[in-house]
Amino acid sequence: MNINGQELREKFLQYFKNNNHAIISSASLIPENDPTVLFTTAGMHPLVPYLMGEKHPSGTRLADVQKCWRTGDIEEVGDTTHHTFFEMLGNWSLGDYDKMGAIDFAWEFLTKILEIDPKFLAFTIFEGDKNVTKDTVALDKWLSLGVSEKRVKALGVDDNWWGPAGTSGPCGPDTEIFYWTGDKNNVPVEYDPKDKNWVEIWNNVFMEYNKTLAGQFLPLAQKNIDTGMGLERTLAVLNNLADNYLTDLFYPLIQKIEELSGKRYAEDTKSFRVIADHLRSATFLLGDPKGIAPSNTGQGYVLRRVIRRAIRFAKNLNIQAGFTTILAQVVIDNFKTTYPELEKNQTFIFTELQKEEEKFSKSLSKGLKILQTQLEVHAVVPGQKVNIVDISDGFVPHYLTSKFLFDMYQDHGFPFEESIEEIKKIRPNLHVIQINNLKKGFDELMVQHQELSRTASAGMFKGGLADDSEMSKKYHTATHLLHQALRTVLGDHVEQRGSNINAERMRFDFVHPDKMTPEQIKQAEDLVNQQIQAKLPMTWQEMTVEEAKNKGAIGLFGHKYGEKVKVYTVGNDDEFFSREICGGPHVENTSELGHFKIQKEESSSAGIRRIKAILE
Ligand code: ALA
Repeated sequence: MNINGQELREKFLQYFKNNNHAIISSASLIPENDPTVLFTTAGMHPLVPYLMGEKHPSGTRLADVQKCWRTGDIEEVGDTTHHTFFEMLGNWSLGDYDKMGAIDFAWEFLTKILEIDPKFLAFTIFEGDKNVTKDTVALDKWLSLGVSEKRVKALGVDDNWWGPAGTSGPCGPDTEIFYWTGDKNNVPVEYDPKDKNWVEIWNNVFMEYNKTLAGQFLPLAQKNIDTGMGLERTLAVLNNLADNYLTDLFYPLIQKIEELSGKRYAEDTKSFRVIADHLRSATFLLGDPKGIAPSNTGQGYVLRRVIRRAIRFAKNLNIQAGFTTILAQVVIDNFKTTYPELEKNQTFIFTELQKEEEKFSKSLSKGLKILQTQLEVHAVVPGQKVNIVDISDGFVPHYLTSKFLFDMYQDHGFPFEESIEEIKKIRPNLHVIQINNLKKGFDELMVQHQELSRTASAGMFKGGLADDSEMSKKYHTATHLLHQALRTVLGDHVEQRGSNINAERMRFDFVHPDKMTPEQIKQAEDLVNQQIQAKLPMTWQEMTVEEAKNKGAIGLFGHKYGEKVKVYTVGNDDEFFSREICGGPHVENTSELGHFKIQKEESSSAGIRRIKAILE
């Protein structure tokens, strides 16, 4: 079937509208009132309160096309199917039709509206576990529609249980629908989950359980249906395309990249895909009604990462500076009918992209200087592993580590190969030896880093801002610095009353009778920044409350006599800026914080002031 993105969106929404569903608009990519996630990751996400039983103003049958953004796969982008931004078609029953109804809709839409021959379809259902029995209702339903038993496979929780999105909330067994993308004249009789030619196109979740914080699965009073069909992937398979980037949702970008680079897509598919995916997803984040700008924290940091990754890959294709806005224009033109916010916010999109390109280019120049210094100063000490030698003057050995090359990548945007290339450019006489070892170490560090950032985003999705996430550590440390700075500037009556941290900002409440003057605010801010610039170590020790008190710690409230506590010190043991009782965790050195900025000082309640601040 030949169908484009807009036609598929319309067919889907029209079909569900005809079946009495209210069509709702896509929610923002930035979740509302939910500090636990960075982005909207599924169609159900903005609907959680309604799946839990709250009444939806549009009724009990809903359908939409939801903008989604997922951070888990950024480094995977470059193959045929992984994306950061994607659109999810979804329909919901909020305690209205049951799973038989949902399966009827799915079947009719696929086989009648999209005219897919059922011989290309296969299904999976939940096989059951200790908590919930096998989903024989879904199984029997598919069989009753004429599907062969060999094409319905029962699988376990890993495959056929969806949610909750966080640690607790609505979840349930699902039935997934697969489409045969292999040889159309040779469709296997039996569905094989390991055969990659079977591509999942639609997930129907029977949200009938609420997972409690204690891990129990309680039946929900309201039995819901939550479905999700990836627009990009479904469009590709319907058009018999093995590559999502060949659909009209991406192809105009691919063509523009061909024009800008003078290269063909087939010459370097990975670079083309990364650039197309990342500029598309960046444009949607910048153009969102709650649009964000690149920064070093939270959502802004993810945005910065994808823009910079796109710029790095654009270098592979020798694309000139200024290309990000050209590609954003292509995205806006391609999507503005469905998402008018993109056109409305286009000035913001262009300005921010332009700024980020310039900033990144500066960062690259700084990186080059660091590389130069490294080559000049790091001669080898005896016993150290030699990784580069100077072949011009009697094999003078130099020192170079995988860690250094990784920092060049992480902090300054130089991929491994580029650092090596630059080394050769700066010092043509240097010969890099043991390159395989260096690369191996570099790759290991990369894997470690990816795991860390995955854990951090998974953590965000699960239990609020996970305490181990880097940003929360930084903000947490900043509250200690601010606490002490306020005591220094305003007096020892200042005491913390509360604080709230998310990935983007901190809020700090404290005892003080008057509004702070602009001078006092500036003094406190400067004091914090001085500690950051002084690169002070932050360490902790365990001791009793009494010992802590004797050592000058603050934050003594609420602890029992004799109780052991953790005490964090900023500075040295005998000469410190701040010492405070606290559970942690914190950064190891204040230099990690960047720059501290107070954005607002206001009243919180009688005698309590509130400061809102950011790290940038
Ligand atoms: N919530 C389900 C998913 O994201 C439909 O796959």
